[in-house]
Amino acid sequence: MRYLTFALAKGRLAGDTMGRFAQVGITCDEMNEKSRKLIFVNENLKMKFFLSKASDVPTYVEYGAADIGVVGKDVILEEKKNLYEVLDLGFGKCRMVVAGSPAIKEKLSGGNNLRVATKYPNIAKNYFNHIKKQNVEIIKLNGSVELGPIVSLSDVIVDIVETGSTLKENNLIVLEEICSLSARLIVNKVSMNMENKRITEIMKALKGLEG
Ligand code: PRP
Repeated sequence: MRYLTFALAKGRLAGDTMGRFAQVGITCDEMNEKSRKLIFVNENLKMKFFLSKASDVPTYVEYGAADIGVVGKDVILEEKKNLYEVLDLGFGKCRMVVAGSPAIKEKLSGGNNLRVATKYPNIAKNYFNHIKKQNVEIIKLNGSVELGPIVSLSDVIVDIVETGSTLKENNLIVLEEICSLSARLIVNKVSMNMENKRITEIMKALKGLEG
């Protein structure tokens, strides 16, 4: 049997992902050992696992370097890769929003040439240009996006809100909601054919956990 390879997003989703997998019998002891290994194997299950930067997970899956991936819907929307999104895993729930200081509210509804700082330029562009039909200047940042309006780099931000505490502590508010997000299971298109039985079984088992 060939190995089934999983690409998992590092960070917030990683713990929940292996937690859910454990509930359906997908485990990997090697992952719990302290080491500098990048790839972890469960020989009995013929499965391999690796953690990567969340934004790289769809790339590994699109090219077939991983058969299956777990990543947030935000990354899937942003990266626009050629793959199957097969299951909403129901955890990692949060929202993609436009946020800024309360004073910017009026400028947001009328104005063009608004400056938007974000880690998600494609999502921001799609929202403003196609949904709101508004021309904006997108400024790409790689983290701590809330700094944008605070240091006057941008008028607003497009970012993820989970608990809302980062916005609150920086005197920013949600101005508009773009979409809701959660962790998703993604599958390489060729793997879906070649390993259909194993992948379908995993999907069914994980689906049974929903709710
Ligand atoms: C995310 C997001 C917000 C924050 C929202 O950043 O970009 O900054 O979490 O969470 P909250 O609503 O629960 O406060 P993350 O911590 O992933 O790191 P980053 O700033 O490096 O992007």
